[in-house]
Amino acid sequence: MTDSKDKASNAMWGGRFAAGPDAIMEAINASIGFDKRLYAQDIRGSRAHAAMLAAQGIIRDSDAEAIREGLLTVLSEIEAGNFPFRTALEDIHMNVEARLKEIIGEPAGRLHTARSRNDQVATDFRLWVRDQCDAAIAGLDALIRAMLGQAEAGAEWVMPGFTHLQTAQPVTWGHHMMAYVEMFARDKSRFEDARKRMNECPLGAAALAGTGFAIDRFATAAALDFDRPMANSLDAVSDRDFALEFLSSSSICAVHLSRLAEELVIWSSAQFRFVAMSDKWSTGSSIMPQKRNPDAAELIRAKIGRILGATVALFTVMKGLPLAYSKDMQEDKEQVFDAADNLMLALAAMAGMIGDLTVNTDKLEAAASGGFSTATDLADWLVREAGLPFRDAHHVTGTLVAMAEAKGCDLPDLSLTDMQSVNPAITEAIFGVLGVHNSVASRQSYGGTAPDQVRAQIARWKERLA
Ligand code: ARG
Repeated sequence: MTDSKDKASNAMWGGRFAAGPDAIMEAINASIGFDKRLYAQDIRGSRAHAAMLAAQGIIRDSDAEAIREGLLTVLSEIEAGNFPFRTALEDIHMNVEARLKEIIGEPAGRLHTARSRNDQVATDFRLWVRDQCDAAIAGLDALIRAMLGQAEAGAEWVMPGFTHLQTAQPVTWGHHMMAYVEMFARDKSRFEDARKRMNECPLGAAALAGTGFAIDRFATAAALDFDRPMANSLDAVSDRDFALEFLSSSSICAVHLSRLAEELVIWSSAQFRFVAMSDKWSTGSSIMPQKRNPDAAELIRAKIGRILGATVALFTVMKGLPLAYSKDMQEDKEQVFDAADNLMLALAAMAGMIGDLTVNTDKLEAAASGGFSTATDLADWLVREAGLPFRDAHHVTGTLVAMAEAKGCDLPDLSLTDMQSVNPAITEAIFGVLGVHNSVASRQSYGGTAPDQVRAQIARWKERLA
């Protein structure tokens, strides 16, 4: 098993891999298959770098001009779809530079002065992730507006509020929608924060130690709309916090999307019928004609799997890496690309679905009245009007619920005599607090479910978004 013939058909992997070791190395090493998505950022970074090199007198103006023109040609070739991507050139950085050389010749070789692929990729990827933060912020904005539209329409629609998915107390539809506005607004602020933190430029850190050329890192940082250059060259090439923060923010946002999607799946079921998804957002079954499946909601619910998976994957890649750059970090891109694509899609689908949702207010109200949902109101009345300690009031109310249950009726259907047999302090006035509308209207504490409170929150958010 030692001659070259045996090596070529190695028993362990020869069957699976028809190609020889060189081709396998190329396959594992190359990133062009996915990092071609960074072409615009790569060309933008190179243009800023070349202009700075000329301004600093490190390369001639005429060379910088040739590089600038050549890069624009490369850009238009890629955008026209006739750029010859080559796996042998590993990644987008070398593909662009090699093509530039074919187009402009010798000056292309001067572009990589005082630069390394390590600071180049860190810069390109940061620019890409920064754009994705903006896209997430815009997607969340649209979704928040859709939620606000629902909240405004249903500020006083009454529905059951749940704990343990058991009817707990009546709430308003608007209040429920506004809970998601709070969640998505926090998501938005996480992307805004992450964007601010990542807005420092790695370019000019070179391979890891900086460079002996008299570069101007503040100029390239400004040209690429970064706030400043990163202050430590080792950190600049080895940091992927920006990607981790993007993924972490995406994961939390995906959790929120998934919870809302789950509610939509439950609410649109035949057992609930709180809402109906429009035809645009549901599908039929090929065998059961009555079916109307909430596929988009289900898929949004499932997206968290891949987004969180990408997050865990990149954390795992980064956790054991010594400073500075290691090739492991090439594995950052596909995770972030996939998470970003799916997050943006989920945000857009959710905004569309929420905007199109039909709410069955009769069903909501009927469900709100069931399950003794105003039992807490009864107990609160006993505290307020009859002076009972809350624990005693809780006990009296529990007895009344058991009585209603035994009679097969709801709390407001018990007679005053029935009620007084449990506690003589109860008066006719009790019936005023047992209705669901009275119940929600009474919850005037800040952040409570009363329509007035909900409308105040809607107004606050509309002002913030304006
Ligand atoms: N394709 C590489 C990546 O995505 C670019 C940086 C390579 N640097 C290096 N010294 N091999 O990380």
